[in-house]
Amino acid sequence: MPSSPPTTAAFDATHARNYDRQIEPIRGFKDALHLLVQGAFARLPETARILVAGAGTAAEARHLAPLHAGWRFTLVDPSAAMLDAAREHAEAEGFVDRCEFHVGWVSDLPVQAHDAATSLLVSHFLVDEQRRVAFFRDIADRLKPGGLLFSADLAADLEHPSFATVMDLWLTLYVAPERQDSYRAMFGHGVAAHAPAQVEEMMVQAGFAPPAACYQAALIRGWVTRKAAGSGLATCASPLAPSSPRPLPATPRPRPRS
Ligand SMILES: C[S@@+](CC[C@H](N)C(=O)[O-])C[C@H]1O[C@@H](n2cnc3c(N)ncnc32)[C@H](O)[C@@H]1O
Repeated sequence: MPSSPPTTAAFDATHARNYDRQIEPIRGFKDALHLLVQGAFARLPETARILVAGAGTAAEARHLAPLHAGWRFTLVDPSAAMLDAAREHAEAEGFVDRCEFHVGWVSDLPVQAHDAATSLLVSHFLVDEQRRVAFFRDIADRLKPGGLLFSADLAADLEHPSFATVMDLWLTLYVAPERQDSYRAMFGHGVAAHAPAQVEEMMVQAGFAPPAACYQAALIRGWVTRKAAGSGLATCASPLAPSSPRPLPATPRPRPRS
């Protein structure tokens, strides 16, 4: 199943122009994520190739490029406008010659070419579970054996007693008061509301080792994992591949507000 969602129209030219400013209220969350990615990838070779899935305006590459002069980056994103902004940043900061920009899907890229991948604030746009699994599998297929993935996304256990408090924290920090009701209504529909355990299971289904949870900031969760040994191309019939996918834990749906 292709991992292309119908959600990316939102990342149009206007959004691309405003994105860096719009994300500013949670900049501290992103800074911490980038620090963790830096640590997770610290032992990669000097000539590593990094796949940046859903690269947006290149925040991940902008953090890593000055730290590793030999690393090369494949920035893939279905939004041409976001990648235009990414290219402008890369040019201004002097690492554009180490970047390849692909407007489109991860599945469009050559296979097994990368030492590591990031997917920051992307996979929650895949509300459908199997599409989200396919997105992770597309990344796994583009990693060398044992390649690393750092993934961070919105994830929430809607049944957990802490959910209301954590959602309230997220809304307070990130969503203007007049938009908070519509954000609550959108959560689980416009963006996925899969529980952290479900997201972990999706990564495993996609061919990664059980991920290590290493980050939470309000609704954002982060994991580091590795392409599992024996995880071949999803398109190949592999004797190691399960004959049918393991069922995912059920997705609790957001309760209607009274
Ligand atoms: C919230 S932005 C995050 C950008 C960047 N990773 C960051 O942390 O600043 C999400 C980006 O994911 C892209 N995107 C959405 N669905 C995607 C998909 N299925 N595959 C790749 N990118 C996708 C959007 O176009 C957008 O640029």
